[in-house]
Amino acid sequence: MNQRNTLKINRLGHLEIGGCDTTELARQFGTPLYVFDEAYIRQMMNVYKKSLKDNYDGNGIVLYASKAFSCLAVYAIANSEGIGVDVVSGGELYTALKAGFPADKIYMHGNNKTPEELEFAIESGVGVIVVDSYLEADRLNDLCAKKGIKQNVLLRINPGVEAHTHAYVQTATPDSKFGFSIANGTAEDITKYVLSKSNLALKGFHCHIGSQIFEKQSFVLAADKMMDFIALIKKETGFEAEILNIGGGFGIYYTDEDPKLTESDYYNYLKALCDEIKAKAKALKVREPFIALEPGRSIVGEAGITLYTAGAIKEIPGLRTYIAIDGGMFDNPRYALYQSKYTVVAADNMNAPCTQKITLAGKCCESGDIIAVDVPMPEVKSGDLVAVLSTGAYNYSMASNYNRNFIPQAVLVKDGKAETIIKKQTFEDLVRNDVIPERLK
Ligand SMILES: Cc1ncc(COP(=O)(O)O)c(C=O)c1O
Repeated sequence: MNQRNTLKINRLGHLEIGGCDTTELARQFGTPLYVFDEAYIRQMMNVYKKSLKDNYDGNGIVLYASKAFSCLAVYAIANSEGIGVDVVSGGELYTALKAGFPADKIYMHGNNKTPEELEFAIESGVGVIVVDSYLEADRLNDLCAKKGIKQNVLLRINPGVEAHTHAYVQTATPDSKFGFSIANGTAEDITKYVLSKSNLALKGFHCHIGSQIFEKQSFVLAADKMMDFIALIKKETGFEAEILNIGGGFGIYYTDEDPKLTESDYYNYLKALCDEIKAKAKALKVREPFIALEPGRSIVGEAGITLYTAGAIKEIPGLRTYIAIDGGMFDNPRYALYQSKYTVVAADNMNAPCTQKITLAGKCCESGDIIAVDVPMPEVKSGDLVAVLSTGAYNYSMASNYNRNFIPQAVLVKDGKAETIIKKQTFEDLVRNDVIPERLK
């Protein structure tokens, strides 16, 4: 069913993932349940690795953008595949290190890293810190001077490419909280500033043009502009970038509104990027930079599904049928945040024809606590198993304990076996950090 062929309908008409029957998973672990398919994650990591190897002599690194899904097990998988990771907070860095991830293959991002996060990063020996403000350049340089270290850094550049799902446009006046704009000259200014800092070793530049992007041209255009910028900086300062980090953003399939990309599509996205960078390096007479790439969503997004049990069903005649589930915005806030669309299926009755449109509602005290609106479904009764597909990215990582609900357990499936990678929360977990001041007792 999915692009890497790990989601199937078995002979009982049940949804199967990684060789596991989802009704068995629900029985064994309960719902709501995040399920991640290990083979899928590994396949996607390998697609990017192979494309860099074939199309750029391996002169680069794949960094799994762990904001998409961060937990010990996923860093362990990335490590075993020999790739790097990008982290964006002290918490993600801690988790990666705790999983035994080699610090030198960690790139640290963030538009407002705290002084504590910067200190933690340099003390841990992270490979590269991506600097995103003058304040940070100063703080980092001072910290490194105190410790007698020279830290490798990249600068986050805004190339002025605004990528959409269906089109790309160049923005004359980039409006983003991230990065230094090439168009208004701040990118050049910060480069000169960082080059003057004795405890910062500038290695090159980074850009990330957005997420859930399908147009190859958007990535190519960003690479193009970044190479022009590298050449400009070489001419102006003599500094020649060694690393070009081109970010992530490759789209995935959520619903039939999205293209279904094959492995070779992803391979070709990267090939197009590599070809452009090589051609530009030749034309501009600059070195071919070491490429870093930061895919997140495309590695874990379609690898994950969420299982729920249908509860109350409310039919408002002539208007809508709500199916309430035992999860909601606390395990998947993406509809509430940006009306994201999902495919919803009857996991225990996959061959039944869709006879109705339903709205999948969560159990939180918010009218906006919705997972999917007016999606096709077969008849569903209370107690039936519902699966929401492509929930591997930015679901668990954006989950919360809103309404003091539990963040669901997560299991990793492979070859018909399921293992817990994130344990069930307990009521005790919910009050662990609460304190009643003496005077209120
Ligand atoms: C700097 C950076 N790199 C990589 C990513 C990963 O993007 P995606 O998950 O769309 O591949 C993001 C996502 O926001 C990002 O901000």
